[in-house]
This record gives sequence, structure tokens and C-alpha cells, in this order.
Amino acid sequence: MKNLISAFDLNETELKAIFDLTKRIKQNPSAFRDAFDGKALGLIFEKPSTRTWVSFEVGFSTMGGHVIYLGPEDIQLGVREEVRDVARVLARYLDLVVMRTYSHRLILEFAKYFDKLVINGLSDLEHPCQALGDFYTIIEMLGDLKDKKIAFVGDGNNVLNSLLILAARLGANLSFATPKKFAPQASILSRALKEAKRTGAKIVGTNQPEQAVRNADIIYTDVWVSMGEEDRVGKKEHFEKFQVNRALLKKANQNVRVMHCLPAHRGEEITNEVIEGKHSIVFDQAENRLHVQKAILLYLLGTPGKSAESFTEN
Ligand code: CP
Ligand code: NVA
Repeated sequence: MKNLISAFDLNETELKAIFDLTKRIKQNPSAFRDAFDGKALGLIFEKPSTRTWVSFEVGFSTMGGHVIYLGPEDIQLGVREEVRDVARVLARYLDLVVMRTYSHRLILEFAKYFDKLVINGLSDLEHPCQALGDFYTIIEMLGDLKDKKIAFVGDGNNVLNSLLILAARLGANLSFATPKKFAPQASILSRALKEAKRTGAKIVGTNQPEQAVRNADIIYTDVWVSMGEEDRVGKKEHFEKFQVNRALLKKANQNVRVMHCLPAHRGEEITNEVIEGKHSIVFDQAENRLHVQKAILLYLLGTPGKSAESFTEN
């Protein structure tokens, strides 16, 4: 059994297997209808969610499994009782959990005591399922990553951290522009840069959005104020020149596609015009969260006596 807590948890072969499986599931979802028969998934969410919650719940239940949502008021992880106690009890009821927490460390602590599968559904450090969905979408839209340029403009937070890891693993060309104070996590970036040398990925950081988006095929952005950061006064002021707007799109390739993990704060990191415009692929990107997550679940959880490959096309 293998957890997915960081995007680093999956090697290149595993990523490719998940993408292949995603394609098969997306083409023929009904072939996978009974994959999780008799299994139970717990969603432990400390923060709100639309895409991650609904796509995991719909994904798992339409593949025959049972899902239970446990919001912040329900089990009160670490408040009502210790994390290690909750983890050991839930391991006796559930086959896996998806966790969305403020602190990445909480997921790691939970995983230490939960001897079943743990998937990170967003922490302050990473959002690996998002990045998998995003790279699947990019490959689906652009084909081979070779000779394609991805530009990230905005906050160096959880989403960018996971995108950097996958860019390095998959040999992609990713330029990111963040304000100096809001660069991606240093240890993740240095490990990604090291990996990039091995895979031929090109990862370049700058504080100039125009530089990052030059010749870009994809422009990606995320909110300036993430969940849990609402009280950080003055943060937005660092991002004034980091808005994805019509002027910035003009500096990229003519057919540039615009991505956003959503939820979006229109008028801040992205204009209404751009998110609604012809370059935007945000809703295709959001849709793929469902297909990719089904594949992640199937790949990591498997089915006793049945490998992911054994599901037939009819
Ligand atoms: N992109 C994403 O994870 O969306 P939610 O916060 O709605 O789950
Ligand atoms: N960086 C954002 C991503 C939301 C999917 C947040 O953490 O709120």
C-alpha cells in the first residue's frame, strides 16, 4: 500500500500508469462500476471544498464504494480526542481516507497511526491530486509535454508546490513568477530542481510575470489569499502586477490556454474577462479532477484479486 501525501510519492512510471488509467475510465466509466464494491472511504475535511469533496465522493460511490464525509464539526480531529486515537479507530472501519487539513503535518501524523491508505486532498504545503488532474489536462490538450511551456503566475503556495514536483518528474518546462516574499517552498523547489536535472525538465523562477509567460502555451494561476490565510493583512498588495489579464495573455503564445485550480477570486489573480474568455480551460480542468481521482483511487487501492488492468472495456 502506498499513500499519496506529497506529489513526490509517485514516480514517473506510476504517474504515467495513473494517466493511462484515467483515459480508460474517462472513455468508459461504466466498466469500472463495481471496482470499490464493499469498500469505505472517509473524507476528513477541515476546510471547505467543492471540487475535491464532490469529485472524490461521486468518483468513489459511482464505482460501487461507500463514502462518509467528516467535516470539522464531526470528529474534531485532535480536539475531541487525540489524532492517533481517531486514526487507529477509523482504520478499523474504513479502507482509506482523503484528508484536507490546515497543517500538512497533521496528515503525516494521522498516516503514522492509520494503517490504511491516506490521500492528501489539500494541505498548507501541497495539493497533489490537483496537480495530477492539471498535468492530465495539459497532456490531453497539448499532447506531449516536450517543447511546451507552462507558466505559473501568482502565489507560491500548495498548488504551485505540487505542480513543480510533477513538472520535474514529468520532464516539463515550467516557469513560475511569484513575488519575492511568496516563493514556493524552498525544500520542494530545490528537490524539484535536482530531479529536473535527471529528467530534463526546465524549471525557472522569476519575479516578473511577463518573463514567465513569454512563449507560454499554458498560463496557470491560483488565489492570492488561500483558505486559512484570510487574516493575513497586506498580502494581496504584493501581487498587484501578478494578475492574469488580457495584457499578460498578449505576451504569451497566441493559442495560450488559461488554467486555474478554482475557486477563483475574479478581479484579483484573474480578470472576469480572461476566465470567461476563449483561452480559458478551467471547467475542463475541473472536470478532469473527477476522472483522475477515480484513477488515483483505483491505482492506489486496487481491488483484491483484480488489478487495475483487469477491468474490461465492456
Ligand atoms: N481546486 C480545488 O481543490 O477546489 P475545492 O477547494 O473546491 O476542492
Ligand atoms: N491555494 C488555494 C487552493 C485552493 C484549491 C488554497 O489553499 O486555498
